[in-house]
Amino acid sequence: MIIGGSASQRLAAGVAVELNDMLCPLETRKFPDGERYIRIGRDVGQEAVVIQSTGYPQDQNLMELFLILKTLKRMDVEHIKVVIPYFGYGRQEKRFKSGEAVSAAVIAELIQAAGASEIFSVNLHEDGICGLFDIPAYNLSAMPLIANHIGEKFENPIIVAPDKGALLFAEEIATILGCECDHLEKTRISPNQVETEAKDLDVKGKDAIIIDDIISTGGTIVNASNILRQHGASKVVVSCVHPILVEDALLKIFASGVDDVIGTDTLRSDVSVVSVAPLVAEALRRH
Ligand code: R5P
Repeated sequence: MIIGGSASQRLAAGVAVELNDMLCPLETRKFPDGERYIRIGRDVGQEAVVIQSTGYPQDQNLMELFLILKTLKRMDVEHIKVVIPYFGYGRQEKRFKSGEAVSAAVIAELIQAAGASEIFSVNLHEDGICGLFDIPAYNLSAMPLIANHIGEKFENPIIVAPDKGALLFAEEIATILGCECDHLEKTRISPNQVETEAKDLDVKGKDAIIIDDIISTGGTIVNASNILRQHGASKVVVSCVHPILVEDALLKIFASGVDDVIGTDTLRSDVSVVSVAPLVAEALRRH
């Protein structure tokens, strides 16, 4: 039985179709004072899968997840596989300054305490997050799905990572497609501001596909797209796993001359054209 939290209903339905499994009715509401109410509408048996991304509104989605897990435990469900397609708070996985909360560790502890038996996530910002759990935790890669999508639309593109951190993603896609890849150099000045430069970049006359795990404010992508245009790329297309797209990020990206934006449905957005349902379904089948 698959339970889709309110942040991942459509994806949960897609996974249920892939697995030929049943979707469990889930009632979720907000009381007038803002508190959450959930009700699991059916007896789910011994084993359940809960799918809930914990992106914006993070705290609300997390609280809903905790309520679902604890309720399943009370219903004597023995094994709960928890799929968190986008793992919120994942970017604070260590203490950068004394006194800071290691938020990712706190969240991992709470999800586990609420009753999770196994965790599945997609392109965690840091692979090390899996190690914060004492239960099996799997970090799935959406890159092959994104590569397939790119491969259907572009012939021999160049895959560009907007910073060194994304180079592994670019290499994964380039290896699948058998095309070249390169990366830019990025320095983050503040949460809203980045500086980017290119070294020995050759994209003249080529279709350049930028790949990143997350697009948040869009600053990283706008800089990368400007550089690729300056270096003569014939097309600039952006792809990412998690389209957070804060405020007017998408508008800023298109205004910078980007031809298209491709995202997955780990988060609901206007650009969620690649579904991770087959990836999640396959992982659930295997484990
Ligand atoms: C950074 O390490 C991530 O991979 C992304 O590059 C970053 O989160 C994108 O943020 P923004 O869209 O705000 O530049």
